[in-house]
Amino acid sequence: SPGEYPAQGWLILDTPPDPGFDSECGGTLVGSRWFLTAAHCVVGVTEFAVLLGDNDVQPPNSDWYGVASVEVHAAYNAITSQNDVAMLRLDRAAPYQPLRVIDPSETTIWAPGTAARIVGWGATAESGPPADLLQEADVRIVGDATCQSAYELNAPPMDPATMVCAADPGRDACQGDSCGPLMVRDSLGSWALVGITSWGLGCDGPESPGVYTRLGAPGRRDHRPDRRGG
Ligand code: ARG
Repeated sequence: SPGEYPAQGWLILDTPPDPGFDSECGGTLVGSRWFLTAAHCVVGVTEFAVLLGDNDVQPPNSDWYGVASVEVHAAYNAITSQNDVAMLRLDRAAPYQPLRVIDPSETTIWAPGTAARIVGWGATAESGPPADLLQEADVRIVGDATCQSAYELNAPPMDPATMVCAADPGRDACQGDSCGPLMVRDSLGSWALVGITSWGLGCDGPESPGVYTRLGAPGRRDHRPDRRGG
């Protein structure tokens, strides 16, 4: 319902060579001018616009923001999807309640099995069209070992140091939900951001859980570029 996820933003992107805004992602307001999203949504993009405060992305939309700067995680690896995170600085302050990012000391509140929520304007069925109205779904945090074995034969593999998985039968993120939030309730009952929609196989879990950028973790300092120098 309107106002239920005040930190949720719609990120539209212009990626050359096609002119105009040609792709759509999500992202989360984490400070009045800070918009947290995934690196894979912003790398190679030349123009950005962020819509906040709107449940329905069909025009008319009033509250558009420009992006003043983009910071991609220094160890983002586009081949392995490790460290799939980026921070955008908006061109002005937004008057919506930002979402709190989970603290590394709170890992117990998002243990495997914990109820979590994802939201986005992505496709509501695999290869379906994107949604106009913001959609929500309840999923559960999937244990690292379970998720690793689900993607055992996959390239890239699931890396528990930089990724966390979530799924529930028939419920998953899908194309267009990318770069939006994975949230759990914190000890006060408020939503906190624990992941960023990154990748997955198909869109209906649980055999192939959604894979999210792991937040509230020290990240990977030992990252080495792959042989191709990426
Ligand atoms: N990378 C996808 C996007 O651009 C998101 C994929 C998430 N998929 C999933 N099955 N959980 O929208």
